[in-house]
Amino acid sequence: MSANTVALAYLIASVFFILALKGLSSPLSARRGNMFGIIGMVIAVITTLTITRNWALIIVCIALGGAIGAVVARRVQMTAMPELVAFMHSLVGLAAVFIAIAAVNNPASFGLPEILPMGSKLELFLGTFIGAMTWSGSVIAFLKLSGRMSGAPITFNGQHRVNLVMAIVMVGFGLWFFFSATTNWTAFATMTAIAFVLGFLIIIPIGGADMPVVISMLNSYSGWAAAGIGFSLGNPMLIIAGSLVGSSGAILSYIMCKAMNRPFLSVILGGFGSEGGAAVAGDGTQKTYRSGSADDAAFIMGNADSVIIVPGYGLAVARAQHAVKELAEMLHKKGVNVRFAIHPVAGRMPGHMNVLLAEAEIPYEQVLEMDEINSDFSNTDVVLVLGANDVVNPAANVPGSPIYGMPILDAHKARTVMVVKRSMAAGYAGLDNDLFYMDKTMMIFGDAKKVVEDMVKAL
Ligand code: TAP
Repeated sequence: MSANTVALAYLIASVFFILALKGLSSPLSARRGNMFGIIGMVIAVITTLTITRNWALIIVCIALGGAIGAVVARRVQMTAMPELVAFMHSLVGLAAVFIAIAAVNNPASFGLPEILPMGSKLELFLGTFIGAMTWSGSVIAFLKLSGRMSGAPITFNGQHRVNLVMAIVMVGFGLWFFFSATTNWTAFATMTAIAFVLGFLIIIPIGGADMPVVISMLNSYSGWAAAGIGFSLGNPMLIIAGSLVGSSGAILSYIMCKAMNRPFLSVILGGFGSEGGAAVAGDGTQKTYRSGSADDAAFIMGNADSVIIVPGYGLAVARAQHAVKELAEMLHKKGVNVRFAIHPVAGRMPGHMNVLLAEAEIPYEQVLEMDEINSDFSNTDVVLVLGANDVVNPAANVPGSPIYGMPILDAHKARTVMVVKRSMAAGYAGLDNDLFYMDKTMMIFGDAKKVVEDMVKAL
């Protein structure tokens, strides 16, 4: 392929990637968006193969990686998706580091002069340290999310100062590498090693509840690392794709922080969800609550005019989406107006609830975002909270609460509240929920799927 044809093919692939992102912004067009992404990737990979000298090796690697990826993706539970994403990011970061090491070791094989120009050194410096931090940060995120490491923040005195000093020392070695006349391996290797350690240290104080933000932030980092490496390799495809990943990850992190009313810096500095936060949960007084059965709940909902269902993380754990679809259909047949209210950070990853409800083929027009439905709760007969907790916690309206200011679904304003969960345990933020103790609230204890199936039977 001529250089111009390659550039054109990369441009077409980039347009497909942009269309993919556009498609993924709504559940209605997400399938099409995915298809655009696949087409763009096929064009990009085939074009790269035509300009590579060692295509046999690349095909073997793609086949190996693709086979492992396909098996892992088929097996992964929906609830384990965030940790899988964290694991994948770690590989992107590591790949960026390996490419940078290869380029520093043998610049000629990358079409670079033996004495690396300043521009290439800067790109390699940026790609390496961002890649190294992405790798170690993602490994910690993976361990925390998969339960192999405690999700509680790990903090120590002077933590932020230690991180700051290490960051300055790392940049110092980077500058030494940058200004050295010949390839300075000592500076490069020390900078890379510090970046690996810094990645661990930056992520350990961040609590499990903030991990989705961290994952999207690391996603953004991995994109920028890829873009940096794209400059070193002179590959415009990698620069564009990396920038798209980098900026979309950054925007997603911002949206999540806004939905939790947490400044981005406070998430990154960590400490949220520590014992200090959890202690706020109980004020020591014994509170009373009312509990009922699935039959009672079905009877009340069957006689209501309007029901709003609020799904949360528990719905995903119980895989209750198909049962809940059946419940909604039955209530519809009885003339009840049933709608679903989705909080932007319900579950453990962006769009978690939308994906589950879409999988059960619940009509999109019944699924409303928080801003669209929040004012309707006060005119609603029954709200059915299914495995959700923090996203309906009125503590968010109380100054001083760790989640103060987080926008919530106003479930407490409905005439009757029903909450399905297995116990009185706290939600992910570790806070007690006053919604459960209101006079108009009925707790229905049990696994969400089993309870909803019982409701369907009763109806
Ligand atoms: P949570 O506050 O995590 O509460 C989920 C509830 O589900 C738990 O209280 C649990 O109570 C219940 N549960 C678990 N398994 C169940 C099962 N099999 N059947 C029935 N109930 C079950 O969930 P949420 O309201 O969706 O809030 C999400 C949390 O994640 C928020 O704190 C949010 O800030 C955080 N977060 C989310 C995101 C994204 S992007 N989604 C990003 C950052 C942070 P029991 O143990 O008593 O059953």
